[in-house]
Amino acid sequence: ADPVTFYGRHQAGIVTPMQDHLHFVAFDVITSKRSALVEMLQNWTAATARMTAGKDAGALGALGGPAYAPPEDTGEALDLPAAGLTVTVGFGASLFRDALGRDRFGLAARSPAALAELPKFPGDTIEPAISGGDLCVQACANDPQVAVHAVRNLARLGMGVVSVRWSQLGFGRTSVTSRSQATPRNLFGFKDGTNNLKAEDGAVLDEQLWVRPGDGPDWMVGGSYLVSRKIRMLIETWDRTSLAEQEAIVGRSKGVGAPLGRSDEHDEPDFEVKGDDGEPMILETAHVRLAHHTHNGGARLLRRGYNFVDGSDGLGRLNAGLFFISYQRDPHRQFVPIQQQLARQDTMNEYIRHVSSGLFAVPPGVTAADDHWGRSLF
Ligand code: HEM
Repeated sequence: ADPVTFYGRHQAGIVTPMQDHLHFVAFDVITSKRSALVEMLQNWTAATARMTAGKDAGALGALGGPAYAPPEDTGEALDLPAAGLTVTVGFGASLFRDALGRDRFGLAARSPAALAELPKFPGDTIEPAISGGDLCVQACANDPQVAVHAVRNLARLGMGVVSVRWSQLGFGRTSVTSRSQATPRNLFGFKDGTNNLKAEDGAVLDEQLWVRPGDGPDWMVGGSYLVSRKIRMLIETWDRTSLAEQEAIVGRSKGVGAPLGRSDEHDEPDFEVKGDDGEPMILETAHVRLAHHTHNGGARLLRRGYNFVDGSDGLGRLNAGLFFISYQRDPHRQFVPIQQQLARQDTMNEYIRHVSSGLFAVPPGVTAADDHWGRSLF
């Protein structure tokens, strides 16, 4: 794949076409020095501009430095292309204020209201050790080794400034961010991403995805908010469920992915149409009805999640699911009401468990070589 342009008004890795693999990592900042943090973000920016162009993380590369020093690149991507690599950076609420409410880096006054903690949703089984974080890095590529290489080199460059809090590998995108892409399937076997926000959605993206002037704070204009939810799927239970039940839970057919009662994948769902039994074809408790913007005050999401399988769980079950990522202009007006409705009524809940949660402010893009991540903030 061609390299994806790193510089721009918005960060790459949001509406740019979704790649096949993910390495998502959350870091905690371990220094109290603001200057060390800014310097690391500058180094991350320079290294990422190089890696997304298919080059080594540092100018001297994996092999060109002095033989007695650790190389400027770890080397495992030496013979690989850019593979569509994008690296997207976000800031968590804990970067602005610690658990006791103390201003860590003189940034508290600039903390976005939108980073207010997500509520606990009914049924949540969130594990703190794999949730939150001061910074997040979403690395996506069409080769998993390229995504892992990017994260590894940023972690290396961050030594002494940040430490990895948790990370997640994802394979197989479960969404589409451009009309040029075919819809993939999630681990329930259903097409996922059909009714997603997409790059071609123009004005709707300004309304639903990007932070606008007046939304506050100014340093976030052109940015977006990222919600991550690691959702374990109870695969073995799902696999014992009938096809008709699976389709009723989702509200779409498993084959072509058409809304129930319609015939093509991209037909608009018709929530009024009734079956022979007088019940709506798309049940009141179906996922796509509850998640649809017409049932959420117009709120929409740009979903960008990945399948994961972390081996098995010691009880012979796959430790698998969907690493859900959504981008939105205001998580409290978009993700929260939708998830509240899903958590209360979605019949899919019998087959899933939310086990981790994250919320990050993703600043606008890096516009030129003298710009760096977070410049508008610090
Ligand atoms: C749609 C699966 C979790 C929000 C869909 C579709 C499937 C699906 C198969 C239909 C195809 C499409 O339009 O993309 C799943 C699975 C989940 C999950 C398996 C968990 C493991 C979530 C969560 C949210 C969400 C946590 C947000 C809080 C949506 C939205 C739509 C959708 C907004 C589009 C509905 C429409 O406008 O038609 N999901 N989903 N989903 N999902 Fe999920």
